[in-house]
Amino acid sequence: MGLLKLLSANRSENLFLPAHGRGKALPENIKNLMKLRPGIWDLPELFEIGGPLISEGAIAESQKSSAYEVGVDRCWYGVNGATGLLQSSLLALARPGQAVLMPRNIHKSCIQACLFGGLIPILFNVPYFTDRGHASVFDRKWLQSVFKKAREFEEDIAAVVLVNPTYQGYSADMESLIKEIHSHSLPVLVDEAHGAYFISQIRPDLPKSAIYFGADLVVHSLHKSAPGLVQSAVLWSQGDKVDPFTIERSIELLQTSSPSSLLLASCESSIKDLIESKGLKKLESRIDEAELLREFLINKEVPLLKNNDPLRIILHTSKIGLSGIEIDKRFMRKGIIGELAEPGTLTFCLGLSSHKRLGKKFVRIWDDIVRSLGQQEPCFFKKPPFSIVSKPYKPCSSSWGSNFDKVNLHDAIGRISVEMVCPYPPGIPLLIPGEILDEARVNWLIDQKCFWPEQISDFVRVISH
Ligand SMILES: Cc1ncc(COP(=O)(O)O)c(C=O)c1O
Repeated sequence: MGLLKLLSANRSENLFLPAHGRGKALPENIKNLMKLRPGIWDLPELFEIGGPLISEGAIAESQKSSAYEVGVDRCWYGVNGATGLLQSSLLALARPGQAVLMPRNIHKSCIQACLFGGLIPILFNVPYFTDRGHASVFDRKWLQSVFKKAREFEEDIAAVVLVNPTYQGYSADMESLIKEIHSHSLPVLVDEAHGAYFISQIRPDLPKSAIYFGADLVVHSLHKSAPGLVQSAVLWSQGDKVDPFTIERSIELLQTSSPSSLLLASCESSIKDLIESKGLKKLESRIDEAELLREFLINKEVPLLKNNDPLRIILHTSKIGLSGIEIDKRFMRKGIIGELAEPGTLTFCLGLSSHKRLGKKFVRIWDDIVRSLGQQEPCFFKKPPFSIVSKPYKPCSSSWGSNFDKVNLHDAIGRISVEMVCPYPPGIPLLIPGEILDEARVNWLIDQKCFWPEQISDFVRVISH
């Protein structure tokens, strides 16, 4: 009862995901479908419909057509978000016992895949903005030094994963990074959960999808960065480094045997919206509107940070000594709900619906907050104590399954974690199963606990002696 009531209430300014803005920006054909008799569209994998792994039927045709339009060899629609398709991709890229090179700001879903797939995550550090507490992007030179160090582990590295753009919308020069990875004869999977609309190539000054730079596999979360329903996602593949048959076997391992036809239709329509003229026009006007909003806020001295995605607005709360987590609560009370509250920032996702009159309301709320809390000295964040490249001390899978003790963080030095410590959102693990808690990591986690009081516990579960 409670849930149904909540789902139909609509009083706030929604600056969170899904990007369709509570239905406002859903493609017309999906809106029309949902206006029919409720449930008429809820069908099983009938012969004419098929499914993402069935070679005939409407879904196979639709996947073929989407892949052709985007210019890749194959694609598969997914109904368990980018999570499901990233995990399937990893299982396709590496066999149990092989290693995968991933950045420290990897989403937890990829670590989970290592855990149940018996893969070894070799995690590499990324540059860090101490003024806001965000992972930043890196360049080819950085990646070259990562490779040099990673080779010292003498593991059988099967693939590399990149995250682009980040949740906050920072985007790297993907062309040079992909070239570097290919120069080592390795395939690359790009987690582009937050960058689906980059396939539109709508303006030359905006980031382009890694698809256009030859990435072997790319995963898009169609509800985060396209007008798809929650859980809709797509996996694109091209080139000859990853066998489509292996991909399908891996999708089959994780996919439900009853994929929702509504979600699959939403995959199709949200991709079409990103490549057909009507959808492109809408996207263009959303971006123009977002840029005007940004300019307005900056003129009113709202502290915003620069990024590469105009549809993500990052409020820099630590610039005046305030926590994004606290500020989020205050915005919510005044009817603006943001997406990603972090210790130094609050990121708002404008999505694909219009927010024409947002500027004045935003400034009024922000000015009220600053007046009531007062401006303080800027707050800076310590760099995480990660070495350039590291791998868990013990395999992730066996650590996760080990008997454990629950110990206070202060008493955890020298112990091995059985769990992920991972504030969500953003879902980036600060500790993964199998990692050793040395003094620097424990002190940093204790520090992080002060910044994320409701998300990080005083206790951590470690392998029993
Ligand atoms: C970088 C990144 N990758 C993947 C995901 C998973 O996406 P989904 O929610 O579609 O499963 C997220 C979710 O927040 C994310 O931030």
